[in-house]
Amino acid sequence: MAQLLKLIPRETTPGALAHDVAAKYGRERRHLIRMLQEIQSTYGYLPQEALRVIANELRIPLTEVLTVATFYHQFRLEKPGEFIIMLCMGTACHLRGNAANYEFLRTYLGIKPGRSTTSDGVFSVEKARCFGCCSLAPVVMVVSRDGSYRKLYGGVTPAKLRRIIAEHRAKLAKKR
Ligand code: FES
Repeated sequence: MAQLLKLIPRETTPGALAHDVAAKYGRERRHLIRMLQEIQSTYGYLPQEALRVIANELRIPLTEVLTVATFYHQFRLEKPGEFIIMLCMGTACHLRGNAANYEFLRTYLGIKPGRSTTSDGVFSVEKARCFGCCSLAPVVMVVSRDGSYRKLYGGVTPAKLRRIIAEHRAKLAKKR
């Protein structure tokens, strides 16, 4: 789930941050997940540069860092869109339509295989765990990249997803 991002000092690069985070955790492999969590809480994803620096600082292969980062669903390897559309894949939502809604949304937005964000960087589509409001299944939550905005939708269908997309495109157009 998207979190409120920390304020990033202007001069901080992903590499510099990764260096500081590695030092903070004593450059110990056992703290790798904590380090990745800290980097993601700043950027909303794990920039490649930061992963390279972490691997270097811990003296382990980059592939080892990537294996951990891809194993856990909490980590993102690409910069999320302005809006992250999270489709609940809990049992009720999965059975009542979100498996199909997920495929529909990816196709409708033209998201390429292996990616989760549209090429214009506006929308990301992700699977999520139960939101705790199963009576509204299937449920979708839209969250802004910085976590400052979130909105929940129940009884979601492909038609409703089209309206949700239009609503957020309009919201973005107003902001720009
Ligand atoms: S299963 Fe989707 S909100 Fe609980």
